[in-house]
Amino acid sequence: MTTTADYTEKIPNNVNLHEDRRLQRALESWQPNFLNWWQTMGPTLPTQDVYLRTAVNVGRDGWAQFGHVAMPEYRWGIFLAERDPGRTVGFGEHKGEPVWAKVPGEYRAELQRLIVIQGDTEPASVEQQRNLGATAPSLYDLRNLFQVNVEEGRHLWAMVYLLHAYFGREGREEAEELLHRNSGSLDSPRILGAFNEETPDWLSFFMFTYFTDRDGKYQLGTLKESAFDPLSRTCEFMLKEEAHHMMVGTTGVDRIVQRTVEVMREHDTDDVAGLGAIPLAVIQKYLNFHYSVSLDLFGGDTSTNVANYYTAGLKGRWLEDRRKDDHKLTSDAIMVDALSEDANGELSIGQTEVSALVGLNTDLRREYTADCQGGVKRWNRILEEGGVRQRLKLPHAAFNRKVGAFAAIEATPDGEKIPAQEWERRQGDWLPTDVDKTYVRSLMQPVHQRGKIAAWIAPPRNGINGQPFDYDYVHLL
Ligand SMILES: [Fe+2]
Ligand SMILES: [Fe+2]
Repeated sequence: MTTTADYTEKIPNNVNLHEDRRLQRALESWQPNFLNWWQTMGPTLPTQDVYLRTAVNVGRDGWAQFGHVAMPEYRWGIFLAERDPGRTVGFGEHKGEPVWAKVPGEYRAELQRLIVIQGDTEPASVEQQRNLGATAPSLYDLRNLFQVNVEEGRHLWAMVYLLHAYFGREGREEAEELLHRNSGSLDSPRILGAFNEETPDWLSFFMFTYFTDRDGKYQLGTLKESAFDPLSRTCEFMLKEEAHHMMVGTTGVDRIVQRTVEVMREHDTDDVAGLGAIPLAVIQKYLNFHYSVSLDLFGGDTSTNVANYYTAGLKGRWLEDRRKDDHKLTSDAIMVDALSEDANGELSIGQTEVSALVGLNTDLRREYTADCQGGVKRWNRILEEGGVRQRLKLPHAAFNRKVGAFAAIEATPDGEKIPAQEWERRQGDWLPTDVDKTYVRSLMQPVHQRGKIAAWIAPPRNGINGQPFDYDYVHLL
């Protein structure tokens, strides 16, 4: 049963919040803190209003409403996908049992931890992107940035709802902490590394929404399988919104590559720096960076914690029900990345076999990599159609890693292990240098006039919600 959101309430929701006064009051007292966080850590560009979609329901037809809204008045709501009354646990030792409407005491700490880690990434990305509005290449892009930002804010609400509704006092304390940690803060940084990196320019933003938001999609996909039904239903609905973030990243990089190809052809040169476009070599370096730090988000190649989460039914696999096995994995094996040592103690890049349960992070990371190849293929098609012979590619899993088996070594993007001194000497060939970053930033001049676009990026093929590109997506102050 879907309950339509009641927009006369302070907090729009489809969870019958008014039936639980205590919970409602607790969330209403968190709300001003959230708004205060949005005002101090959210988008810095002053706007009058923005053409945004707002989630109003979860049903198949029309879960979102489009309209110009003043951002601080955006209706962040709590929406869970519809409950499937017959849903059973899809994997692990509880497979086949009815899913849980409440948190089982024995899994309380683990579930809370999973929700806090997911919740921490949502406001982090808003913080990382807060200054981008000042350099938006068009009003269309500016609107997309703000759409991503308000929805990450809503995802924070989604996790805070679970913490308040199911985890008591501790949950409420964690909800406060989610507003106190800040991206890049020395004293209280965000939990995961990639969420403390800056997003200083729009090439980074599009790479972030392609690679790092996509990590989010895969994490949400595993939580959507959870036996804890409210978590599953929350994540299912978040994934719908996440699809737009992926679209922003995918088409953003498309349009940059497109523009670069045009300038390369027009001037018959690869060296488009100084011609107002972003050289393919620089795009490749940004790709290398964002992909490798996003791989780190999947954690170690092996993890007994994750094995336990799976067995307990807390966190499943990507598209669990499409897997053709027993969904318990107690006797299966998987090859995972590893370093092997020869007789001389020399390390080399290789693989080793572990139990499938222990290798679940690897399973998820490989699904993610296969998905990322899709973007590279698209961008290479643009290069091919433009008659350019260079191609983009994903770096090897051993490249630039800080987490997992390969954190201990240095490797080229082709996966050749190299000594540390060589890495020091050559890393500027593979990762953005200060010169690259300064050049990209020099291009980031705002284009805030309706229907106009910056010279380093092609216009989008379609507007938002059937509107043309030159629509008045944002009214600035
Ligand atoms: Fe999100
Ligand atoms: Fe996202």
